[in-house]
Amino acid sequence: MLIILLLLVVAAAAPAFTAPNCPPLGPVYEPPLTFTSPTLLTAIANLTSTLTARDLDTSASIRAHDTSYSIEVFSTSPSNPLIFSWHHTAPALAQSNATAGVRRTDADTVYRLGSLTKVFTVYTWLVQDGDVRWNDPITKYVPELAAVAERGREDPVGSTPWDEVTVGALASQMSGAIRDYGLLGEVTQQMNQSTVVGYGFPPLNSSDPTLPPCGLWPLCNRTEFFNGLLHSYPSYAPFTTPAYTNTGFQILAYALESIKGKTFEEMMKESIFRPLGLKHTYYSNAPASEGIIPGTREDAAWDYQLGEENPAGNMYSSVGDISAVGRAIMRSTLLRPSLTRRWLKPAALTSEPIASVGYPWGIRRITLPLENGKRTLDAYNKAGRIGYYNSLLNLLPDYGVGFSVLIAGPSIPGNANFNLADILGAQLVPALEAAAREQADAKFSGDYADATGYWSLRLTTQADRPGLGIENWVSNGTDMQTTAVALAAGYTSVRPSIRLYPTGLETVRADGTRRVAFKASLEDGNAPSRAGSMFSTDCGSWVTLTSVTYGTQALDQFVFDLDKEGKVVSIESLALRAVMKKR
Ligand SMILES: *[C@@H]1O[C@H](CO)[C@@H](O)[C@H](O)[C@H]1NC(C)=O
Ligand SMILES: *[C@@H]1O[C@H](CO)[C@@H](O)[C@H](O)[C@H]1NC(C)=O
Ligand SMILES: *[C@@H]1O[C@H](CO)[C@@H](O)[C@H](O)[C@H]1NC(C)=O
Ligand SMILES: *[C@@H]1O[C@H](CO)[C@@H](O)[C@H](O)[C@H]1NC(C)=O
Ligand SMILES: *[C@@H]1O[C@H](CO)[C@@H](O)[C@H](O)[C@H]1NC(C)=O
Ligand SMILES: *[C@@H]1O[C@H](CO)[C@@H](O)[C@H](O)[C@H]1NC(C)=O
Repeated sequence: MLIILLLLVVAAAAPAFTAPNCPPLGPVYEPPLTFTSPTLLTAIANLTSTLTARDLDTSASIRAHDTSYSIEVFSTSPSNPLIFSWHHTAPALAQSNATAGVRRTDADTVYRLGSLTKVFTVYTWLVQDGDVRWNDPITKYVPELAAVAERGREDPVGSTPWDEVTVGALASQMSGAIRDYGLLGEVTQQMNQSTVVGYGFPPLNSSDPTLPPCGLWPLCNRTEFFNGLLHSYPSYAPFTTPAYTNTGFQILAYALESIKGKTFEEMMKESIFRPLGLKHTYYSNAPASEGIIPGTREDAAWDYQLGEENPAGNMYSSVGDISAVGRAIMRSTLLRPSLTRRWLKPAALTSEPIASVGYPWGIRRITLPLENGKRTLDAYNKAGRIGYYNSLLNLLPDYGVGFSVLIAGPSIPGNANFNLADILGAQLVPALEAAAREQADAKFSGDYADATGYWSLRLTTQADRPGLGIENWVSNGTDMQTTAVALAAGYTSVRPSIRLYPTGLETVRADGTRRVAFKASLEDGNAPSRAGSMFSTDCGSWVTLTSVTYGTQALDQFVFDLDKEGKVVSIESLALRAVMKKR
């Protein structure tokens, strides 16, 4: 009856430009486990020659002569945790007789992290307490803010309504509160009065309560910090727009200390350093002998501590340890997998369409060019800069791969960390996608059929489309591809295009065999492209998932059976109750 009704629908003529295959957000193949694909080896060879040339470049935008750095490209693959590493020691450092630190960089060399510290701070919170309190007002845990919350409601321009600021708002730069107090960017802490007046600022009376009595030196203590906050205007009301705040992470640390009754440093060691075996990571005061210190300790700001603001940017670590943290995050070593997945999601968009903000991630959307498909990859990044140091942790959860980049030099060119990530990404991202596709092809591609011959299908991969393609899907003599796509589309004249994508759902049986679920997109290859439309989309596949069921079971859901060695035994179409063995 339904099919008859569908037949009555008049189909439109095939448009000139057809919509690309549109996967749901997430990996389109399982993450690669080995990295010996020729595409990847070519990419790594290119990186080796690109970085070799770069390390001789003394131009102002590179400064290889006095800028040292360490890079690791790491993976969650148990057999291949490290894909690529590169260490450049600036000749100026190697030849220096004065440095208090190392003369050669390697995976264990300790750099300062700056704001990459914030990842450790949020990670510590999540391991200690999960995110159940993230919608609680921060005033519940920080009495100094509870005491002044009323002012923000009476005078929204002049004061932050602290009881509207949640724990999660602070972790995701959504509090709207002041960025720093007294410390970074406070001109009165950096120059004397005659200099600032010369620059056009009015003189401030020394008893003016808005003149920070502390900041860079002496550091503000907790009392002074909260007194200072009273004089600061909010940038925005909470949850208006992302606005970077260092103070938020200091306040988070106070809150966790009051919840757990331990110092923040103790909790970070207990929750992160010890379980992950980090031997070259320091919350404060790292030993110079393990560090890279270009120039004097003072010039490099090696010993400078942020004090109460430590949770926002004080830490020290090595690329080896940063990679260990990145792997642990993506493997959910310390958190429940569902919490990790929630953590690796955006909290807010930004004014740049390909960028959003997380906890405390900067998220970048990478588009992989596919002739007949859409493929968006989200990168979770956190960068930092302090003294002579620059840092970056990048996570590509779709591949279980990330980059750790640490840089040291007296005059690091602007954006050096992201420039290195650009070089790594340009080579590795397309190669990782190709490696994942090749792995999927080797594992899943082929003909599948049941013993009676009622059901069969073929799986393939194509370089110009995402996911596994389903072809020749036949059920009891019927072309199931056309039926499935017509039912999903709601009209009959379709050119079926069905692609399968991993869901991450996996059941391991007691005997070591596994069931692994994939989701299909049931698409009409004749559907029109709507590129550039204001509201219409040609990539809304998340809306149509599981839109057709047969006896409760989804027509777009398939489950692979894998043997103990991980080899594919069969595929099951849930709706058809059909198990087809791989030939
Ligand atoms: C690396 O690849 C890029 C982009 O494909 C290319 O422009 C560049 O010449 C290559 N570099 C080397 C050293 O092979
Ligand atoms: C460092 O010491 C070596 C030998 O100890 C000496 O040859 C070199 O000139 C010194 N370099 C500097 C920059 O002082
Ligand atoms: C203020 O700082 C400038 C620049 O560092 C310096 O030349 C000047 O002597 C200082 N003035 C006072 C009063 O300390
Ligand atoms: C600074 O402020 C105090 C208190 O308001 C006032 O007594 C004093 O005259 C002011 N000093 C200057 C130099 O304006
Ligand atoms: C903070 O410093 C001030 C002096 O600037 C002092 O009066 C106060 O007791 C200190 N508070 C704490 C908590 O150490
Ligand atoms: C196959 O189709 C025939 C009718 O064409 C039907 O009688 C039979 O039950 C079907 N078998 C299966 C396993 O679907």
